[in-house]
Amino acid sequence: MSESAGGNLDHVLSESRLFPPPSEFTQQAVIQSQAQYEALYEAAKNDPDAFWDAEAKEHLHWFEPYSQVLDWNSPNAKWFVGGKTNACYNCVDRHVAAGRGDKAALIWEGEPGDARTLTYAQLQAEVAKFAAGLQSIGVQQGDVVSIYMPMTPELVIAMLGCARIGAVHSVVFAGFSAEAIADRNNDAQAKVQLTANGLYRRGKVLPLKETVDEALAKSPTIEKCVVLQRIEDQATPMTEGRDIWWHDLVADQPEDFPAVPLDSETSLFILYTSGSTGKPKGIRHTTAGYTLWAKRTFEWVFDHRDSDVYWCTADCGWITGHSYLVYGPLAAGATCMMYEGAPNHPAEDRFWELIEKYKVTILYTAPTAIRAFIKWGDEHVEKHDLSSLRLLGSVGEGINPEAWMWYHEKIGGKRCPIVDTWWQTETGGIMMSPLPGVTATKPGSCTRPLPGVVSVVVDEAGEELDVDQGGMLCIAQPWPGMLRGIWGDEERYVEQYWSKFPNKYLTGDNARRDPDGYYWIMGRIDDVINVSGHRLSTIEVESALVSHPAVAEAAVVGRPDEIKGQGIAAFVTLKSGEPTDELRQELRMHVRKEIGALAQPDEIRFAASVPKTRSGKIMRRLLRDIAAGIETAGDTSTLEDYAVIAKLRENDES
Ligand code: PRX
Repeated sequence: MSESAGGNLDHVLSESRLFPPPSEFTQQAVIQSQAQYEALYEAAKNDPDAFWDAEAKEHLHWFEPYSQVLDWNSPNAKWFVGGKTNACYNCVDRHVAAGRGDKAALIWEGEPGDARTLTYAQLQAEVAKFAAGLQSIGVQQGDVVSIYMPMTPELVIAMLGCARIGAVHSVVFAGFSAEAIADRNNDAQAKVQLTANGLYRRGKVLPLKETVDEALAKSPTIEKCVVLQRIEDQATPMTEGRDIWWHDLVADQPEDFPAVPLDSETSLFILYTSGSTGKPKGIRHTTAGYTLWAKRTFEWVFDHRDSDVYWCTADCGWITGHSYLVYGPLAAGATCMMYEGAPNHPAEDRFWELIEKYKVTILYTAPTAIRAFIKWGDEHVEKHDLSSLRLLGSVGEGINPEAWMWYHEKIGGKRCPIVDTWWQTETGGIMMSPLPGVTATKPGSCTRPLPGVVSVVVDEAGEELDVDQGGMLCIAQPWPGMLRGIWGDEERYVEQYWSKFPNKYLTGDNARRDPDGYYWIMGRIDDVINVSGHRLSTIEVESALVSHPAVAEAAVVGRPDEIKGQGIAAFVTLKSGEPTDELRQELRMHVRKEIGALAQPDEIRFAASVPKTRSGKIMRRLLRDIAAGIETAGDTSTLEDYAVIAKLRENDES
């Protein structure tokens, strides 16, 4: 349990402040009372079929009705069986058809300050042309399209364009390496690659196409590559017969190319995320259930009103970007802000400038960003008028109370509720969160489960634990947004999530429920670490290190980091070469090349050997303590070689 991101477990355990929602907020909220929440919660728990039937009929467009709400053959769920719908239609066409075509769907600003607004009608035309373009190069229903693009409107158009024709998108965050793209392309058997000729990051151009070319040399299933010209006048290598400019692809395509009616369970996307093993897994989400879950959780948690300007700062390379920049808010007909670049370019006040300029009303960001803002200083915030804000959200890791208070006071002017949202790539959408008009918040707690989420905390034997006892967090009933599988590996789906306790989804998180029924997430039970709100498997980083010729063995653990929540500490034993600073740097760059910058170790210690149990398992708890600089507590009696510890402590690079 010492894994709690942010390293503020003590504060969280002693946290007792309570912040009721401001009454002005409650009076206008979508859900206004505890009784209303409880009625929804009980209805969804006791009669899920009736509850979700009503929700699906009201909140999704159906080309053809479904015959059954849920077919639950544990652990395989089919929601809205036999119905025909389309996620893109629900996010775009539905609003245009209802006469809301002139409402802004996306308000976008690039890092250099270029800006565009797309109304729902304009978005519809762009998406239709792009979907037709995809079809013209041979993309068919069920084909996988790999997306490696900057945060431009075209990234959203690309995702929706796939959904429009039933192609399955796999977005790879544009900070990942060529190796990581190729791994994902091969695992997914992707047919088409979408990219751009660059993106702006802190004033520089990152040449994405070069990275993609390197990846495509190792991605034999990719037949075509569509390239967005994000950067003008940039020399861009194009491979004849394979590469096509985005503007050429869409040039003669029809703006009225229709959305294809698709079976409810048609795969909508795959998103790769780290698990406890070395190989990232492709989490598979499907059309109807996911879209409904994203929409309803968005409306409940963000108290969406027609006049809102909503900004989710996540990149579309992560699940938060999928569910709360694209599918949830667009299905709800919201106006979404989207920003391409870094929060500190050209200066540390960029976010606050954007909020003032576009009169953003709802901000959804991550604790790691908040901690960076705190470090950069209040003066950047104080320069701007943030009075348009009415609601703040947090996601990705637990928000430590200090960051919560700063967010509340400096950004929210003490008037905005904060929704600390707990969920995962696998859950498709938010599972636990305050309802901003109802729930009195406690800094550091994601409070209570949303309607449809039957959460339990259990012990090793699967027995439900009493309040205040920490244990494994599980979900005991299927919900519409749940993952439907791991791409190409159904066995792993069952094993990973459903085998420890039959009929219960294992989240992989530890949690505790307090006497008020509030949940406190206490960190992972497995070897997953949370770096700046992003999941990484320690084994994945170890594999990358071991693939370097000088490395014999590596052990990687998380260690507390003031900004990132967790940093990466690596213990490395060498096959050859000297333990020098140059080699340290080389190993860092090697991991960067194998996975991407976010996996680069913050600290590398060289050791003669890595401490293991007699059965050969790396003693991670011990290494975590060493990396955190705390005295080793607990039982080390199974340790193979005590001398190893002393060596590791000595070899502290700092
Ligand atoms: O450990 C939990 C942590 O992030 C994990 C999910 O990571 P990922 O699939 O990348 O999705 C991140 C965005 C939803 C969880 O298992 N986590 C996420 N949000 C919170 C959190 N831990 C505590 N509080 C949160 N609000």
